[in-house]
Amino acid sequence: MSSSWEQFEELIKQEMKRIYSEAVVEHSMNPKNLGDLEDADGFGRVTGPCGDTMHMWLKVKDGTIANATFLTDGCGTTLASGSMVTEMAKGKSLAEAQRISQEKVLNALGGLPEESQHCALLAADTLKAAIRDYLIVKKEPWKKAYQKYIGH
Ligand code: FES
Repeated sequence: MSSSWEQFEELIKQEMKRIYSEAVVEHSMNPKNLGDLEDADGFGRVTGPCGDTMHMWLKVKDGTIANATFLTDGCGTTLASGSMVTEMAKGKSLAEAQRISQEKVLNALGGLPEESQHCALLAADTLKAAIRDYLIVKKEPWKKAYQKYIGH
C-alpha cells in the first residue's frame, strides 16, 4: 500500500500531466544531474529575463562532454529544461553540444506552454556559456585559478 506522501505525489503528477508532457513531468519531479561538479572544466551561469538563474558545470574528456550538472532557482519547467539539456549534452562533442538549441530542448521535452518556453532557452544558453568558459580556460589556463577565487 502506498504512503500518503506517495499518493500526494501521484496527485501532483496527474495534475501536471493535464498541462505538461510526460517528459516534462518526469524531469521536473525527478531532475537528473542536479548539483555542482567538483573540479569542473567548464562553468556557465545565466540569468534569464524572468530573473531566474541557472548554473551549469561540465567535465570534458577528449573534446567530449563526459558529465554535465546544473542548479537553478527557477520553477519546475526550468528544472525540467536543465535536466534535459544536461542529459542531451552528455556524450556529445563540444561542437555537437553547442548546437543544442531552445528548439531542440523543446522537442526533447515534448513541448512547453508558450509562457514557459523561455526556460528551455535559459538551459540552452547556460550550456553554451559553460562550453564557452571551457574553451576560454583551455586557451588561457591561468584563468582557472581566478575563477576558483571568485567562486566558480
Ligand atoms: Fe524563469 Fe523558467 S520561469 S526560467
